[in-house]
Amino acid sequence: MSLILEGFMGSGKSAVGKELAKRLGLSFIDTDALIEAKQDCRIADIFEESGEEAFRQMETAVLQGLLLTDDEAVISLGGGTPVRDANQSIIKALGRVIYLRADASTLIRRLESGTEERPMLKGGDLAHRVKKLLGEREKRYMELADIVIDIQEESIEEICGRIEEAV
Ligand code: S3P
Repeated sequence: MSLILEGFMGSGKSAVGKELAKRLGLSFIDTDALIEAKQDCRIADIFEESGEEAFRQMETAVLQGLLLTDDEAVISLGGGTPVRDANQSIIKALGRVIYLRADASTLIRRLESGTEERPMLKGGDLAHRVKKLLGEREKRYMELADIVIDIQEESIEEICGRIEEAV
């Protein structure tokens, strides 16, 4: 059974996922990276050239592809992946879902330097965008989660340790 990391942008899904996979001796899969490799295009450019809906379809296609492999892995999702209805049952079927939960102020602090690569945060006031999107998504993240790990400024190692205790 795979371990799936969900959470808002900036919650550390990729960094934690990589380290967790190493510690558990599993392969690491980042769905954003899979999409970029498949399309040979950065996510920011996919949004710009084809729009958000096209990107969301690519996310669902990548999840469906993962269902066909029975490799155990640590899988880190994009921040918006759990929102789409069609993705929820696929994510559940892929493994145990771990929500890396951070509050808006922690996320805003972490995201301050990285909005260029994140089309969902482009334009307008960052704090307002994060609060609004998090408000819309929090219920989804919680519904899907088997395990919730509250994070603030802990190290990646510390977060991995807490996940290993919880699974
Ligand atoms: C998105 C989050 C991004 C990426 C895309 C859309 C979102 O992933 O999938 O830019 O809607 O929250 P990260 O959470 O890894 O930044």
